[in-house]
Amino acid sequence: MKTYTFSDGYTIPRVLNGCWQLSLGHSLNGPLDHEDILKAFYELKDKGFTAFDCADIYTGAEEFIGSFIKELKQSGNYEESDLQIHTKYVPDISYLSKVDEAFTRSIIERSLERLNRSYLDVVQFHWWDYETEGMVRTASYLQKLQEEGLIRHVSVTNFDTDHLRILVDAGIRITSCQAQYSFFDRRVEKRLQKYCKENDIPLICYGTLAGGFLAERYLGKKEAEVIPETRSQVKYLQVIEDSLGWDGYQGLLELLKQIADNHGVAISQVATRFILQQEAVAAAVIGVRNSRHVADNDKIFSFELSEAEMNTLRNHIDRSPILPGEPFELERTIGSKYRSIMHMNINEDEQS
Ligand SMILES: NC(=O)c1ccc[n+]([C@@H]2O[C@H](COP(=O)([O-])OP(=O)(O)OC[C@H]3O[C@@H](n4cnc5c(N)ncnc54)[C@H](OP(=O)(O)O)[C@@H]3O)[C@@H](O)[C@H]2O)c1
Repeated sequence: MKTYTFSDGYTIPRVLNGCWQLSLGHSLNGPLDHEDILKAFYELKDKGFTAFDCADIYTGAEEFIGSFIKELKQSGNYEESDLQIHTKYVPDISYLSKVDEAFTRSIIERSLERLNRSYLDVVQFHWWDYETEGMVRTASYLQKLQEEGLIRHVSVTNFDTDHLRILVDAGIRITSCQAQYSFFDRRVEKRLQKYCKENDIPLICYGTLAGGFLAERYLGKKEAEVIPETRSQVKYLQVIEDSLGWDGYQGLLELLKQIADNHGVAISQVATRFILQQEAVAAAVIGVRNSRHVADNDKIFSFELSEAEMNTLRNHIDRSPILPGEPFELERTIGSKYRSIMHMNINEDEQS
């Protein structure tokens, strides 16, 4: 129950350690305590949470994981296969039309160097603008690097059904599809989940905890009292507003609390299980920004939600609309508030 094995035998924990939270500028309530995060990484590894989700555009995060790996190597007690490193290849929107094979190689080699690895277990490909030609060709460059052994698996993130299908039909072997999926964002349920199930491309889901809002400390809170602590929370406040709304969210927290109490676990663990028990879901990515939650992680696998509990939760969220469009469509829509909070030129502009 704690791990997921893909059809080629590659195995990951069903909860990945998310590292967007470590990127420069992500924390809005003061600097992160990097020693405490390193402590979290050691503890997570010891508990079997050995997979890390990162991206070339999470400024400083690949380097931080790389420094952890360097320490492990120096300890003499480390094999590369001990950790599963998932990163992303996210060419800047302003550079899309210029992306070529050499550029793609340079970004992957940069990730390898930053991460202190000789190979990357998974590279998740992202393409900001479907109107810009080159998406399939760029994915094929990743496949070449896979054939050379620099990448073990090519995956995608934030693709909609039709564009994932275009890659698959072009012969790109896609291992997994990373998408936002939670009580508040169920756009995958419209088409993508079915396509992924039928094509053996399991979902790796983020947003499971809505940036941390699915936790006891938000029970009974009024909207006006909440100040976002991370960029992630800025985003999920928008998502909550456009899905369940504040009252629906508070009602959900109450339901989750009752179910959590019955199992002797926390709200976050019920929220994670709800996603892990959905069809075609391989794993959830949960952001790590301190060691506070590590001790609890095991509890995700200490219980299962019954059909009645799943139905209770589903009935509650079914009363509200699903966000419009396909996964990541609002985020791609020019002029939308979802797009306006995104940084689309981090690789070259912001990191150089
Ligand atoms: N592909 C993409 O475009 C994309 C987009 C977003 C995210 N991601 C990936 O997904 C990861 C998760 O990001 P997210 O924005 O979706 O955030 P999330 O995982 O929904 O929420 C993370 C926050 O939840 C809190 N938390 C963690 N464990 C907890 C627990 N056991 N109980 C209660 N609270 C807990 C932590 O905040 P506190 O410690 O402050 O409580 C943490 O910062 C990212 O790091 C990244 O790897 C990918």
